[in-house]
Amino acid sequence: MEAPDRVAPHPPLAEYYAGTGERVGFVRRLFDDTAPQYDRINAVFSLGTGAWYRRQALLRAGLRPGMRVLDVAVGTGLVAREAARVVGDPGAVTGLDPSRGMLAEARRQLPGIGLVQGRAEALPLPDGSVDFLSMGYALRHVAELGAAFAEYRRVLRPGGTVLLLEIGRPEGRRAHAAARFYLGTVVPALCRLTAPRGRAGTLMQYYWDTIEACVPADTILHHLAASGFEAVRCDTALGIFRAYTARRPG
Ligand SMILES: C[S@@+](CC[C@H](N)C(=O)[O-])C[C@H]1O[C@@H](n2cnc3c(N)ncnc32)[C@H](O)[C@@H]1O
Repeated sequence: MEAPDRVAPHPPLAEYYAGTGERVGFVRRLFDDTAPQYDRINAVFSLGTGAWYRRQALLRAGLRPGMRVLDVAVGTGLVAREAARVVGDPGAVTGLDPSRGMLAEARRQLPGIGLVQGRAEALPLPDGSVDFLSMGYALRHVAELGAAFAEYRRVLRPGGTVLLLEIGRPEGRRAHAAARFYLGTVVPALCRLTAPRGRAGTLMQYYWDTIEACVPADTILHHLAASGFEAVRCDTALGIFRAYTARRPG
């Protein structure tokens, strides 16, 4: 298999950190600091990407009772909780995240789910150990697409499925302007107003800035295919909600 080129999901964002080397620490601290507020922010501003949407996406991608799941970037557990409902056993779901703050929230909210600290680019799991791998709204935070996808392929059993949920930059000019105004201006301003002492405003500003700077869907699909996945596709709803799916051959 040809080695995929090394591509970051977005270029370094100088407004937030000095260079690529500082990005990992910046992202970890940002999620550590905002973990206790994350669910509230998500409920108010998620544009419908709540529990129902996550469960439907898991079902559409083929998650079924009895499967073993790894939820990468588990956060407070919004995807993992739905995965546990579908597979019927919290013990069959493992959540992974680099942020101790997020893992503490997930532990508090999701008893029975296995939790492990780690990053998408270096998964502490054996080869072929899961049937289904999910990642919700975190692909923009990995250092390099090919490194993460190579790890996803390694830990999935042959025939296993990967599902990546993301928000993408809308394509039309009007839709883009509307999304930029709402997600890039209104939401961060409301977060700063309602929680002036926390970093929720920075989190939501960063959320939009990384969406805006993110590589296009075709680049993500290209890297999934170049990492050895097949049946690679991206389904987009309302111009903004993207669900990438792919299968490990086998
Ligand atoms: C926006 S939250 C998403 C949480 C959850 N998946 C959801 O659907 O709400 C992004 C999560 O990605 C995690 N993250 C950041 N960099 C990561 C990396 N390199 N590998 C895995 N997770 C990462 C953060 O700590 C944070 O918990």
